[in-house]
Amino acid sequence: MKDFIVTPWEVSGDVDYTKLVEQFGIKLIDPNLMKTIEQISGSNHPFLQRRIFFAHRDLDWILNEYQQGNKFFLYTGRGPSGDIHIGHIMPWIFTKWLQDTFNVELWFQMTDDEKFYFKENLSLEETHQLSYENALDVIAVGFDPKKTFIFSNIELANTLYRHAARIAKKITFSMIRATFGLTESSNIGQIFYTSMQAVPAILKSLIEERNIPCLIPHAVDQDPHFRIARDVLPKLGYYKPASIQCIFLPGLKQQSKMSTTNGTDAIFSTDSAEEVRKKVGNAFTGGRGSAKEQKELGGTPDVCSVFKYFFMMFILDNEELLSVRNECLNGERLCGECKSILIEKIVKFLRHHQEKREKARSILDKYWISEKIDLKQLVNKK
Ligand code: TYM
Repeated sequence: MKDFIVTPWEVSGDVDYTKLVEQFGIKLIDPNLMKTIEQISGSNHPFLQRRIFFAHRDLDWILNEYQQGNKFFLYTGRGPSGDIHIGHIMPWIFTKWLQDTFNVELWFQMTDDEKFYFKENLSLEETHQLSYENALDVIAVGFDPKKTFIFSNIELANTLYRHAARIAKKITFSMIRATFGLTESSNIGQIFYTSMQAVPAILKSLIEERNIPCLIPHAVDQDPHFRIARDVLPKLGYYKPASIQCIFLPGLKQQSKMSTTNGTDAIFSTDSAEEVRKKVGNAFTGGRGSAKEQKELGGTPDVCSVFKYFFMMFILDNEELLSVRNECLNGERLCGECKSILIEKIVKFLRHHQEKREKARSILDKYWISEKIDLKQLVNKK
């Protein structure tokens, strides 16, 4: 029995990222690679310094190509099954940094088909509708409308399906079974689906009729899809897509991954200040039984959800973070204090996000692409 499971559809147990790197066969981002990124970009994002984006496939190769003038494009996506939580937003903040730093396009896939295949309770109309709602959150992160293309699998099917078919023909059921753990009783949409997630990695190459490197930022749960894509795409004459991968923002109650299905343990982009207050108020901190004990023995920041949120998203200044940690360890700070600070920071973050999310409704068409648009012309025009 494995002590943890990570697939694109299930994350359970206490994820050991060191073991996962070995299991998946991905590579850690080492100091040399960090140095290369710093040389090119002039600085390193805190998510890299803190090893939140910690692993990769062929990042060294894609940076080398970039330095030689062979520019890559970014590709990432969302499975629209409900509201967006701040765990989704975290890798998108980093993706925006990559777009700004490297001055590159982003192709963003909304997998309404995937969520229909995998969620018993959702109709195709619902997942498709959620694509638009979720796109507002993507736009709110601040991607450049001139360089960002958002699309739904269902809507862009005419373009995507013909290439998914060529990819699917090179994938056997036994590869799917070994990679994802799907079985004979899985519906055949699930078994086929990974070929749809592979297509955007070559979409720009297809449109421009030349091979263009692709870099995919994502959390580590999506890696199995791209393991398959990297196996198949060279057989069709394309580059293997490269990736840069992050750990999960945890849930508020000690779960390894914040997830849409644990509603009370996730902070959604549309949550009110009151909801944030309630959820963070109930977060797991690992604090001692009483204030007296906490003052005597100190807290346990390394297991505390609140501290993890500071570390991963809400205190990016190293000195400030260190002083919070030390004060907690020394017993100078009680959990209630940290929770209040986190509530304040999240509420501020969400207020700003929600404003931009509402504004995004009127500019969605600057980002959204569909079959009605000639992709080739669009890319040249943007
Ligand atoms: P989805 O909708 O599950 O997740 C969207 C993105 O958010 C990441 N993610 C997280 N990151 C940090 N902490 C968390 N708690 C957390 N939960 C989710 C996911 O890894 C993902 O990057 N099949 C995909 C949609 C997709 C896609 C892609 C994702 C299509 N093409 C290319 C990444 C790259 C999905 O259902 O993602």
